[in-house]
Formats: sequence, structure tokens, C-alpha cells
Amino acid sequence: MIKIAIAKGRISKVIYELLTESGYTFTENSKRKLIITDDSNSISIIYVKSEDVPIYVENSIADIGIVGKDILREKEYDVFEVEDLKTGKCDLCLAGYKNTNIRKLDNIRIASKYTTQAKEFLKSNNLIGKVIKLNGSVELAPLVGISDFIVDIVETGSTLKENNLEVLEVINTVSTRVIANKVSYKTKFSSITNFISTIN
Ligand code: PRP
Repeated sequence: MIKIAIAKGRISKVIYELLTESGYTFTENSKRKLIITDDSNSISIIYVKSEDVPIYVENSIADIGIVGKDILREKEYDVFEVEDLKTGKCDLCLAGYKNTNIRKLDNIRIASKYTTQAKEFLKSNNLIGKVIKLNGSVELAPLVGISDFIVDIVETGSTLKENNLEVLEVINTVSTRVIANKVSYKTKFSSITNFISTIN
């Protein structure tokens, strides 16, 4: 059996559909269950917060993980990145109010869950500013005045639009990746590669 950690939310919905289309059945599935095993006992899925997927894989709780590249760029993990599923495509963007030019401001403040990438953005653009860590609903930050800018994921753009914000710059493109525990990738190589080809 292979143990798979999957980021709860958009990624888990897409992967669950792919698995059922590929013939996996889950009698015990319910929306709130955090661990499910397929009826043939070949895969066991744990649903975790996206930031925690690499931690479960690194610490051998899961053999593989399915998570966005946005998370993998934030921190170094001792895992193998083995496949780009090319799904879950979105952009990590600098956003703010229309026509705001980050290069013309003195006191730059950026709110983000993605503090590493926000800091890298400032550095690579020779800008000096403060990055404020938020854990969600980041679009609120310019509205309430915590920051002038946000660095966040934009998929459809509707969250920005509904909060009168706009993409100012695309920083990174993102897609869903499969990562593997370094030991599991050797000891369970064929089950892992078979599984990846099923969902790919
Ligand atoms: C993500 C992201 C944006 C939103 C973008 O948040 O942080 O808020 O999705 O998607 P859109 O461009 O399709 O509107 P998520 O829903 O994952 O929740 P969060 O606020 O907890 O980060």
C-alpha cells in the first residue's frame, strides 16, 4: 500500500475525481474523513493543509504527496519532486489597487502567506520593503490598510476583482506536483510510478 498526503481543497477535489475515473473506489469516503483507504487496499490518502504535505512526506508519514509548487518554493524540504501533473495551474502574483507602482513607493508593505517568495520578489527587483505574514484572506490586507500590496495565488481572478484589486505583476507560475519520500521512492518505486501514471 502507498500512503499519499494530499492538500485539502482544490487539489484534493481534482485528484479524487481522477482516482475514481481511473477505477479506484472508496466505500468509506465521507467529506469530513481525513484518512481514506481505497476498497482494494492499494492506496491510503490523508488530507492535510497544503503547507503540511511536504512535512508528512519528509517525515515518512506519507510515501508521496500531492501539492502545489507554490508551497514547495517557500521552503527547502528533503524530498524528491518526481512529477509535474500540469493541473491546478495558477499564478503567484503581486496584486494591489489599479495603477499602483511598487517602484515608486518609499514605504513598501506586502502581505502574504508566501513570505519567502515575496522577499525574493523585493530582492530581485532591488526594492526595500516589509513583508507581513498572513495565513489566509490575504486580499483583505490592502482594504484594511495592513499593506499596500499582496503576493498571492490568482486562479480565476475573481477574489481580486470582488475586492477591487488587480494583478500588478506575475511572479511565478504554479502547478500541482508529486513529491516522494526519499526512502519510499526506492523501496516502493514500482507502486509509486504506477500510481503516478494512473493520475497523470
Ligand atoms: C486562494 C488564494 C486567493 C484565491 C484565488 O485562497 O489565496 O485568495 O484562492 O483564487 P481566484 O483567483 O480563483 O479567486 P484559498 O481559497 O485557497 O483560501 P485562503 O484565503 O485561505 O488562502
